[in-house]
Amino acid sequence: MLAARSRFTSIARRSFATEATPAAADQKYKVVVVGGGPGGLSVSSTLSKMLGKDKVAVIDPADYHYYQPLWTYVGGGLKDFRESQRPMQSVIPEKADWIKERVTKLDPDNNRVGLANGKTVGYDYLVVAAGIQINWDQIKGLPESLGKDGVTSNYSPESVQKTYKFIQEFKGGNALFTFPNTPLKCPGAPTKIVFLAEEAFRLQGVRDKTNVTYNTSAGKIFGVDHYGQVLQRLADERGIKVNFQHELIEIKPNDRQAIFRNNANQETKTFDYDFLHVAPPQGPPTFIKESKLADAAGFVDVDKFTLRSNKYKNVFALGDCSNLPTSKTAAAITGESGVLKANLIADIEGKEIKQHEYDGYTSCPLIVGREQLVLAEFSGYTGQPMETFPVDQRQVSSTAQYLNKEIIPSIYWNGLLKGLWTGPGAFRRMMEPLRK
Ligand SMILES: Cc1cc2nc3c(=O)[nH]c(=O)nc-3n(C[C@H](O)[C@H](O)[C@H](O)COP(=O)(O)OP(=O)(O)OC[C@H]3O[C@@H](n4cnc5c(N)ncnc54)[C@H](O)[C@@H]3O)c2cc1C
Ligand SMILES: *[C@@H]1O[C@H](CO)[C@@H](O)[C@H](O)[C@H]1NC(C)=O
Ligand SMILES: *[C@@H]1O[C@H](CO)[C@@H](O)[C@H](O)[C@H]1NC(C)=O
Repeated sequence: MLAARSRFTSIARRSFATEATPAAADQKYKVVVVGGGPGGLSVSSTLSKMLGKDKVAVIDPADYHYYQPLWTYVGGGLKDFRESQRPMQSVIPEKADWIKERVTKLDPDNNRVGLANGKTVGYDYLVVAAGIQINWDQIKGLPESLGKDGVTSNYSPESVQKTYKFIQEFKGGNALFTFPNTPLKCPGAPTKIVFLAEEAFRLQGVRDKTNVTYNTSAGKIFGVDHYGQVLQRLADERGIKVNFQHELIEIKPNDRQAIFRNNANQETKTFDYDFLHVAPPQGPPTFIKESKLADAAGFVDVDKFTLRSNKYKNVFALGDCSNLPTSKTAAAITGESGVLKANLIADIEGKEIKQHEYDGYTSCPLIVGREQLVLAEFSGYTGQPMETFPVDQRQVSSTAQYLNKEIIPSIYWNGLLKGLWTGPGAFRRMMEPLRK
């Protein structure tokens, strides 16, 4: 054992001597967390409490942190945008250092990251939680038309504030909704706004002069059939026309035309719109895609049970930038963060990290009306429901809407971001006997 170690040390020394040792990092932390979204904050809160001051850094250039799940309600006119936004400074954990810079380079071979200002930050452990990147420019005409003349999207903090305004201004005609041909965060969100807008058009008395069309590049309305069947029935009842395999590729704002490609036969078709909600194409952040931490698709390549990098033992990732094969939601981060923290802490303490495994839990609160919600909860790994409450959660419920709209936001701000909430797993297991 000892002999093996000293041989290893001498090999390491030799290769250092020939490869030229890189200059020391400008700063160094025990744990560096990239991203101050729910993934990064849930982990850095617990670790900075445990390790104390000067040990944990959160790197994020953003002035504000957003509770993005609220944006569906903002777009539907049911919540004020300001409730979704807090200054980043106010949510950074007390004992963590905030480095207000953009990470431009991940350098796991030298245990450091590079920043946009040219500086480097070294680490013993790295946690990557930089979210998913929205690629607005992948749809021709979208960057210049977004937020103007009836074209909107709940996927950005600026345009989400236009959605309800355009819904209110809508006087009838063609209302179009899209779903991209890429991975995306909250895959239910593009569908939820269809239902909220359709209801608003009814309440405004313009529904009978309106075509509500949802052209999705997917093959079905929702990935998990258990809930998808309910959504499809509701869409049929409400006269929402859903077209599958239709991907938006271009907008011509001056003519108010949207061009779609049918992915089944590659034909393109042009349609007139009076209102257009776009769920934009998304993908891995460029600095991750270009790094050694990425898988072939560009997301951080981690073990789906332990959340540790498959290539570097001192690197972990969670949330939308990871390649965990479950749907990308804040709800998933509750479970992911619990597992990641347990495993990272075990590793710091020199223990096996295998005891804690993520089960793929995720949730999609399917908002289908102002007071209607179907609380989809399932494992992205098995496709099976993992419901918290001992009722059939496929039922449209006003209680579930209240829970998601009024209660869960405070669990997010006061529980998840503080590292204190790791998901409803324990509650679900307690309810298990009642479910029989
Ligand atoms: C319209 C909409 C509705 C949604 N509805 C729901 C819902 O109902 N339920 C639900 O659970 N989830 C929902 N989500 C999804 C949820 O918001 C995300 O899954 C969640 O925010 C992901 O967290 P994250 O920490 O991985 O990434 P993010 O929250 O995106 O945070 C990433 C952070 O990383 C920072 N960052 C990015 N690049 C860099 C860099 N180069 N260097 C340093 N920092 C960087 C960013 O500034 C950001 O602060 C919704 C999302 C949207 C847009
Ligand atoms: C609805 O769509 C049909 C056919 O696509 C079209 O003829 C009709 O004009 C549209 N209705 C409105 C109000 O735009
Ligand atoms: C969506 O696709 C269908 C074709 O299946 C088409 O009839 C419909 O008009 C399209 N709508 C828009 C706005 O692209």
